[in-house]
Amino acid sequence: MLDLQSLLNDISQTLSNQTDRGKVADYIPELAKQDNQHFGMAIATIDGQLFSTGDAFEPFSIQSISKVFTLTMALGKIGDKLWERVGREPSGTAFNSIVQLEQERGVPRNPFINAGAIVVSDVVLADHQPKETIGEIVRFIRCLADDDSIMIDEDVAQSEGDTGFRNAALANYMRAFGNLHHPVEETLDVYFHQCAIAMTCVQLARSGLYLANGGMNPLTASKVVPRHRVRRINAIMMTCGHYDGSGEFAFCVGLPGKSGVGGGILVIVPDKAAIAVWSPGLDPNGNSKLGTMALEMLVAKTGWNVFGA
Ligand code: DON
Repeated sequence: MLDLQSLLNDISQTLSNQTDRGKVADYIPELAKQDNQHFGMAIATIDGQLFSTGDAFEPFSIQSISKVFTLTMALGKIGDKLWERVGREPSGTAFNSIVQLEQERGVPRNPFINAGAIVVSDVVLADHQPKETIGEIVRFIRCLADDDSIMIDEDVAQSEGDTGFRNAALANYMRAFGNLHHPVEETLDVYFHQCAIAMTCVQLARSGLYLANGGMNPLTASKVVPRHRVRRINAIMMTCGHYDGSGEFAFCVGLPGKSGVGGGILVIVPDKAAIAVWSPGLDPNGNSKLGTMALEMLVAKTGWNVFGA
């Protein structure tokens, strides 16, 4: 029998001795304040069990992990028409790269690089006021996690707004190609606030369960998305969820995952569980260094891997 709690304790213990813990994101001033000594991990299983270790109950900035939830919402709103405005190929470039956008005429490679996620936020905005849409995103995530305490960290949102010149450049560039339908400031307002949502590993693991369970949220017994769409979201997480580190993540972990520069990673084990890990120190691709190491240790012991146990 797999003892997931002992396994998490062992991983946490082993990593506590790690001295090279990566570098916290410093291009968003609020995130630069994070302490890279944090480590937390949680596993939520589709049959209702929860395992956790370390700082698994401490909220952190989910950043790009929010892109999984807004992608789910955008597909719900406009279905496959989304793919006319954003691709689904790995980019092979950094998450905030602008070079490809010119060659590809304002259509971003995938929904997880910043440009693609900004288009997705534009779709979710759908002629509403940014405030309403931001509320809709938070309500959606609260519903997924079955937890009404999930909030936006307004200081992080403000910090991103104050310094998000690159994202503004990407957004303006896409607007010039007609691929943003709302004023740039409104779409970015939504994008910055979704990135600034704060969640714990436990909340995040629970919120990912619909992707492990064929589109049904086992916490609330409600259907979130059809099964065929879950397969697609998981496929994009696998191929694009770690930017230019996606190939390496598939090679070493072998599960659909999405990282954020707050140091979190959400991982889906189809038909079994959702895992969240958090450690703020990042590798050069902007993915959590200890988070990735922890996941490698976990899959080595559990055999959880979509390419075969
Ligand atoms: O737009 C940004 O740069 C951040 N709000 C999100 C980037 C991010 O999380 C990339 N992930 N590793």
